[in-house]
Amino acid sequence: MKSQRLEAIASLIEKNDQVIDIGCDHAYLSIYLCKNKLCKKVMATDINENPLRQAQKNIEQNGLNIELKLSDGLEDIEIGDFDTLVIAGMGTTTIKKILSNDQVKKIKKLVLASHNDLVDLRYFVTSLGFYLQKELVVYENGKYYEIMAFRKNDKKNTEEELIYGLLDTKYCDYYAFLIDKYTKIYCSLPEGERVKKDEYQRKIDYLQNFIGKI
Ligand SMILES: C[S@@+](CC[C@H](N)C(=O)[O-])C[C@H]1O[C@@H](n2cnc3c(N)ncnc32)[C@H](O)[C@@H]1O
Repeated sequence: MKSQRLEAIASLIEKNDQVIDIGCDHAYLSIYLCKNKLCKKVMATDINENPLRQAQKNIEQNGLNIELKLSDGLEDIEIGDFDTLVIAGMGTTTIKKILSNDQVKKIKKLVLASHNDLVDLRYFVTSLGFYLQKELVVYENGKYYEIMAFRKNDKKNTEEELIYGLLDTKYCDYYAFLIDKYTKIYCSLPEGERVKKDEYQRKIDYLQNFIGKI
């Protein structure tokens, strides 16, 4: 597959997973999973007809048989024995709305890639009884992407894990990028925004401390 980001998402899927790829767009991920037999089964869904039409063409061109569904999140989907959701390439507000569907109670694993508000998403998903198990960072087309895998589990993440993610020494370039970004935000905030400034200062210190230990 051309996209390292989608490959990273696929690397978090296991052989026995039964996956619903929500917001599949052109179904590249679903096709990759199915073609390489990386999971037990996959259903691809999208809220819009246009991407699904293209997805259908791509699936046919690859000679695969993947179930396609038009649905806003899980609204028109019967989960049945599907146990894993992939929701990638959307914002946290949309992902949270999708995960507010009652059927999520039956799901054992989530692979999520939001492009904003990751702290909010980690707190929300763990409040549903999931444990943040793994995080990957991918740099593609000049942008960093974080991909998170959660599993239904009684284990609890620490506050630090929910705020900063599961830090890993192999992603120091990303943390340096974040320190730079937070420093710019810190400097642009007026003195009157002391609470916000202190919050960014704490983030900068935490990441600098992590990098410094290596
Ligand atoms: C930026 S694309 C990401 C495609 C793919 N998941 C990826 O990560 O490359 C977002 C896709 O999500 C779909 N989408 C947005 N909101 C949705 C929702 N509530 N339910 C299902 N699909 C949705 C859009 O139509 C679009 O095809």
